[in-house]
Amino acid sequence: MTDVPAVTADNQSLTIRDNRTGSEYDVPIVDGTIKAADLGKIRTDDETPGLAVYDPGFVNTASCRSSVTYIDGDKGILEYRGYPIEQLAEKSNFLEVAYLLIHGALPTKAEYDAWEHEITYHTFVHENVKSFMHGFRYDAHPMGMLMASVGALSTFYPDARNIDDPANRHMQIVRMIAKMPTLGAWSFRHAQGKPFVYPDNDLGYTANFLSMLFKMSEKKFEADERLVKALDVLFILHADHEQNASTNAVRSVGSTQVDPYSAVSAGVGALFGPLHGGANEAVLRMLRRIGSKENIPAFIDGVKDGNERLMGFGHRVYKNYDPRAKIIKKSAEDVFEVTGTNPLLEIALELEKIALEDEYFVKRKLYPNVDFYSGLIYEAFQFPPEMFTVLFAIGRTPGWLAQWLELVQDKEQKIARPKQIYTGERKLDFVASSERWA
Ligand code: CMC
Repeated sequence: MTDVPAVTADNQSLTIRDNRTGSEYDVPIVDGTIKAADLGKIRTDDETPGLAVYDPGFVNTASCRSSVTYIDGDKGILEYRGYPIEQLAEKSNFLEVAYLLIHGALPTKAEYDAWEHEITYHTFVHENVKSFMHGFRYDAHPMGMLMASVGALSTFYPDARNIDDPANRHMQIVRMIAKMPTLGAWSFRHAQGKPFVYPDNDLGYTANFLSMLFKMSEKKFEADERLVKALDVLFILHADHEQNASTNAVRSVGSTQVDPYSAVSAGVGALFGPLHGGANEAVLRMLRRIGSKENIPAFIDGVKDGNERLMGFGHRVYKNYDPRAKIIKKSAEDVFEVTGTNPLLEIALELEKIALEDEYFVKRKLYPNVDFYSGLIYEAFQFPPEMFTVLFAIGRTPGWLAQWLELVQDKEQKIARPKQIYTGERKLDFVASSERWA
């Protein structure tokens, strides 16, 4: 019995025998995947639901076709639109990478200039944003403020709901890439009780962000070029990472056809978690807790006993050294040349050395990920740990938007709505509280 589409000519199919019924099914294999909907056609009778895939955490489920980012986790390869991350980090800049991610190709000189101009002139936010940011408590986490304020932008730009219009989509993309640093910097200033600094359109994207963060009474804030470059590289490294948890959140919320500000604010929320963007903050806390090199063996024992987790290690996709971690390790050296070294670096290096030789980590292919060294650099910039994830979010914004853009134009996409395996009670008789509590 063949209920599902016929075998393809070149044997790209899977034959399934359902031992419950003895029926056989041919399921086409396309791009190394089978369609879950094809499995749904496998059923014992018309009354029972079709076969489904149980995959908590989507560990082996492709949710989309995408041409934005390629990762080979076993070989430690990361490419944006086909360009290796190492080359982009060395020779490009964040705005050009953002253009590449959004448009799918590198810009000509004229295209780049127009892009840079557009982004620069949309960095200002409505004055009312300032008022509601002042409404947060003095100790509000900047990531919570960022999530709320990005979401709130949807109320300032109701036209953003018109997601079918390419020109309109472009406008919101420009606005969001432009305004994220302003919102991020203002969240930081709020926590410090310092006045908000308006964007300076004479400065480049990353230099302007540093100015909004750190400018006080000086006429112009000019950050050390080496620091600007290092932060720009960090933004590039974080710009996209295919279907990670926050991108999946953006796509999932975006699949309802909501405006992109609401979708990206969901991404910011997902990124906030300690297993995702919050890991670099956790790395620093961990390094501080370890305190000195002598305490590392005891800490590693705790990890192996399951009482601790080595934060900044391990990755769902990379089963090799995360290529971003390699670049960041090098960036750390450049930054420390300007700021002086971070004493925690010594502990991190030793921890990495010991972990990479330890059977527990080797067997599980646990290597440093992007977050292992990034926190040390951010700290050298004098960012408090709460700001680390905000920096990640600013870098990730073009990636979220490139993925959102792809989603809204993809005819195969539907509203994201997973199945469940129901494990609860059924058909209970409800007794009103007046009787139950009598
Ligand atoms: N320390 C100790 N053991 C670990 C770690 C770790 N950091 N990561 C994974 N393991 C163990 C895990 O306990 C499991 O062991 P066993 O097979 O004995 O049960 C095995 O390795 C496989 O781990 P997993 O939890 O099934 O892997 P996952 O793909 O579900 O999780 C991860 C990936 C990133 C959540 C996890 O490695 C982790 O929690 N790492 C620490 C947090 C971290 O650094 N996160 C940043 C990720 S990179 C930036 C980003 O994308 O946001």
